[in-house]
Amino acid sequence: MSQSLAGKVIIITGASSGIGAATARALSRLGCCVALAARSAEKLHALADELGPAAIAVPTDITSGPAVANLIARTRERFGRIDVLFANAGIYVPGQLAEGDPDILARVVDVNVNGLVRCVHAVLPHMIAQGCGDILITSSISGHVDLAWEPVYSASKHAVQGLVHTLRRQLLPHGIRVCSIAPGMVANELWGITQPEEIEKRVAAHSALRCEDIVDAVVFILSRPPHVNVREIVMIAQREDL
Ligand SMILES: NC(=O)c1ccc[n+]([C@@H]2O[C@H](COP(=O)([O-])OP(=O)(O)OC[C@H]3O[C@@H](n4cnc5c(N)ncnc54)[C@H](OP(=O)(O)O)[C@@H]3O)[C@@H](O)[C@H]2O)c1
Repeated sequence: MSQSLAGKVIIITGASSGIGAATARALSRLGCCVALAARSAEKLHALADELGPAAIAVPTDITSGPAVANLIARTRERFGRIDVLFANAGIYVPGQLAEGDPDILARVVDVNVNGLVRCVHAVLPHMIAQGCGDILITSSISGHVDLAWEPVYSASKHAVQGLVHTLRRQLLPHGIRVCSIAPGMVANELWGITQPEEIEKRVAAHSALRCEDIVDAVVFILSRPPHVNVREIVMIAQREDL
């Protein structure tokens, strides 16, 4: 039996494109109040305008402590509480360590791991005080398998996996559920794929997922009744050989 999501207050990081934007649209249709976070202010404001008064845009770089604190404060100010953190923001940089720029590669860890830690840390006091909440984190299949062409991205998502599962156990007594979604390839902006025809071509070849496949998983997880704790959803395209 599922529970209604109407009225839930949900922070979505990485809401300016891809999975985050698609999730914001879907959750908004289900009656949720959404706080949209990412760095691209223009895209966030356009999305908030599209979604109406139950959406706010809070331009945020998750690697900045003050910016994350502002995101939490603005959300509470506008909606009075925070039911869900969908910690989804992330960046992808492929490439071998020997050839890559260490500063660019280290940025992957700054965003995917340290930025995530900042967001979770900032939201926890509020969820602990209210005795409930959901923290849903976008991980990756790269956190499960060793992909030779993306060592640092893969390391960042392995770290995310460690964080998710230790946090999940630590937060059980507080009534807070922690869960991850680990997708394989999603045809979207992360890969520079923006044209609908290109997305459909990859999906028809069973070599990539659509953002909407991940949205389905988000809605499934969040609409479980309180006694059900979904640990993780791993979802890859049918022909991904992983
Ligand atoms: N696409 C895939 O194949 C795939 C597969 C597995 C997992 N994932 C994961 O899915 C998540 C979402 O990615 P996506 O596929 O939807 O790609 P995307 O369209 O590139 O989305 C990434 C989002 O993260 C935001 N972001 C990046 N750096 C940020 C920062 N420092 N502070 C705040 N927001 C930041 C971006 O917005 P701004 O640039 O505006 O800040 C954007 O909204 C990521 O964690 C990614 O690792 C993706």
